[in-house]
Amino acid sequence: MNILILGGGGREHALAWAVKQNPKCDRLIVAPGNAGIAQIAECAALDILDAGRVVAFCEENAIDFVIVGPEAPLAAGVADATRAAGILTFGPSQAAAQLEASKRFTKEVCDACAAPTAAWARFTEASPAKDYIREKGAPIVVKADGLAAGKGVIVAMTEAEALAAIDDMFGGEFGEAGAEVVIEEFMQGEEASFFILSDGTTALPFGTAQDHKRVGDGDTGPNTGGMGAYSPAPVLTEALQAQAMERIVLPTIREMARRGTPYQGILYAGLMIDDDPQSGERRARLVEYNCRFGDPEAQVLMMRLGAQVLDHLIATADQRLAQAKVNWADDHALSVVLAAKGYPGSYQKGSRIGGLEDLPQDSRHMVFHAGTTAKDGATLASGGRVLNVTARGDSLAEARDEAYKMVDAIDWPEGFCRRDIGWRAL
Ligand code: AMP
Ligand code: GLY
Repeated sequence: MNILILGGGGREHALAWAVKQNPKCDRLIVAPGNAGIAQIAECAALDILDAGRVVAFCEENAIDFVIVGPEAPLAAGVADATRAAGILTFGPSQAAAQLEASKRFTKEVCDACAAPTAAWARFTEASPAKDYIREKGAPIVVKADGLAAGKGVIVAMTEAEALAAIDDMFGGEFGEAGAEVVIEEFMQGEEASFFILSDGTTALPFGTAQDHKRVGDGDTGPNTGGMGAYSPAPVLTEALQAQAMERIVLPTIREMARRGTPYQGILYAGLMIDDDPQSGERRARLVEYNCRFGDPEAQVLMMRLGAQVLDHLIATADQRLAQAKVNWADDHALSVVLAAKGYPGSYQKGSRIGGLEDLPQDSRHMVFHAGTTAKDGATLASGGRVLNVTARGDSLAEARDEAYKMVDAIDWPEGFCRRDIGWRAL
């Protein structure tokens, strides 16, 4: 099979690494890829938001299967275009990707299928939004409706902060994404990520993970795209996974099918876990959906799943998930993000990263590249999040120790990482 993966981050490196190990994969192209991906696959310069160009590229290269990594090409309808051209595709349609691209859409779907989530209201003007905030009080959560690269959510601990967020959003800080605003009840609890494959009708749990969104140790400082992850997330017990499937995921998938926009791809459910104050029952409520694998959550999932991933992605695209079964080992994986100093604010590009050649690369140790480029045989940093140092172990503590051993062998004075990835579970 000739396979094309769209994207060029750590998530796509991890996907490529897993897919490549499957004997069904003959030729693997990643667009645009990065310096790490170039070591295991062909990289192609291609505008992955241009659906017509992606289809033409697939035809020129006899691509049999397309895997879409990030949300932007999904929201741009790239999966619709490749499917319409008769190419087997992993990734939801533009209509189904609304589950990530519009907060209001997701809330309406939750209401229609009675999936538990935060109480909410939507506004297209500042004044009624502010009245609502004054009525509800803080803490309260203000969200730009559209895609805002993870920056469109303000968890306001005071009323003044929430009111200022309204001014920013309607003032155009998030462009079109902020023309409509969703205001939500603040949910307390522990967050975890639950991944589910859906072929439109059948849903298959595909692992749990926990991310570390804040930039600093002890979950301090500004939010980032994620500074590290581990899998499994012990807070998502078997019982809570079953509850989330029954109350949130399956109702959502049925509702999407009922609307004539079946969801096909990976569904990434961000869940908030707490005890119901009324019944005392342990419960999971939906924070948000994403229509793609998490980054860096994919890195730990791929490390644990390995080659079978390709079979499951094909079964999803082929609508054969009812026959699929995931083989889980009783193992753990942990990934530490190395980022450029200054991230998530401004940072320098172009610094040289040393020590990578001597690191182990096997089924238990991988350095996935996020923002890197190769120049004259050297690896240079070219993004905010740059490397995802990932290890697998029989225990989470072992995975963590192995990952930090690799981190300490990397020579990159311009980079930094959190030293406490995994603390919640350890
Ligand atoms: P989202 O992009 O919707 O996932 O929001 C980003 C982050 O904001 C989430 O991962 C949560 O940490 C936080 N968040 C979003 N909505 C809520 C909510 N209703 N209550 C508490 N925290 C929230
Ligand atoms: N790590 C969070 C995300 O991928 O959205």
